[in-house]
Amino acid sequence: MLFRVPRRFSYSSVFVGLVIGCCFYSFFSQPSSSKLFAQSNDEEKLVVIDTFTDDDFNNETGADGFIVPNIIHFIRFEKFQLNFVDYVVLKAAMRNHRPDKFYYHTNIKNVTFEGKYWEWVKNEKDLWSRIEVKYLEAPTEIFGQKLSKGWRFFHGSDIGRIRVLMQYGGIYLDNDCFVIHSLDKYRKFECVINWDERQFLGTQTVIAHKNSRFIALWLESYKDNYHADKWYYNAGERPTTEILVKQPHLIHRVKGDFGAGTGVSMNLYTNPKFDWRPLDVIHLLMNHRSYLDKRYNLTPVFDENNIRTYEYPFGDMVRDLLDIHPATTPSSNGP
Ligand SMILES: *[C@@H]1O[C@H](CO)[C@@H](O)[C@H](O)[C@H]1NC(C)=O
Ligand SMILES: *[C@@H]1O[C@H](CO)[C@@H](O)[C@H](O)[C@H]1NC(C)=O
Repeated sequence: MLFRVPRRFSYSSVFVGLVIGCCFYSFFSQPSSSKLFAQSNDEEKLVVIDTFTDDDFNNETGADGFIVPNIIHFIRFEKFQLNFVDYVVLKAAMRNHRPDKFYYHTNIKNVTFEGKYWEWVKNEKDLWSRIEVKYLEAPTEIFGQKLSKGWRFFHGSDIGRIRVLMQYGGIYLDNDCFVIHSLDKYRKFECVINWDERQFLGTQTVIAHKNSRFIALWLESYKDNYHADKWYYNAGERPTTEILVKQPHLIHRVKGDFGAGTGVSMNLYTNPKFDWRPLDVIHLLMNHRSYLDKRYNLTPVFDENNIRTYEYPFGDMVRDLLDIHPATTPSSNGP
């Protein structure tokens, strides 16, 4: 999920939730083609664990080796083309974490890798060879309860990430999560989630084994209890209050290091002194800047040209990632 609200709802947070619900996705479909997938060579062996029990598994020390496959999952309902920030997010995950695979889960059956940024990706052999597309149904209901009409693709993506993690295990990232450091250290736990003090859990970055007990309970918790009218009830509030508060040992709790707090993200666009480097991931909140505060959104759409001179920390982050030097003249061939 994109946004966490404080435990005590205020009207403004409900409003923000509503607005997020209405403006995050743009809906358009893509024409078709197919892609042959090369295998990358550096897939490593995992320690195999089939079930977790309280006696065997310690949420502080984790397993002796990696138990979570090195796959990064993105969900892209209704929209497959990349924009500049999508490209940046993919590059950051590649450079700073280096998964064996990127799985793009989409409900578009006949995807094509079209547009400038997919072209850039295709030109980077090592990156391109790791990309796979998986069909993922955009749910219309959950345990017989119809999903909210207006939030279908948001609530659908909440459910989608649970299903993807239950099927494959791996690292789920929202489409605007910028990876800063390798996430390998979290791949020895049953489930890792950002849960800040006095907050609901943050679902922007979730790392889990496919048999994680928390993930299964989270899905279960939708039974007879889906609230179509609440933005973050089933994704955040209910799993926190009904599962985590009672059974905190089911996760390896991360506080802050996945950069899930809105107050953290906004520094990227306002605070020249903000240092994102100690974090492991930061949620860019890219599409929410406009209504949160117009100061955040002075550059509504980032691209490879305006990023050269963007003065706030997001500019440094991206220039460093793409090796862009502000003084050079813009080129049309990519960074
Ligand atoms: C892809 O699928 C959509 C809807 O399913 C269809 O409208 C479109 O024509 C298809 N495109 C191609 C190129 O097959
Ligand atoms: C591990 O589980 C205990 C409860 O058994 C909990 O108090 C603690 O916060 C958990 N540690 C981490 C790192 O999540």
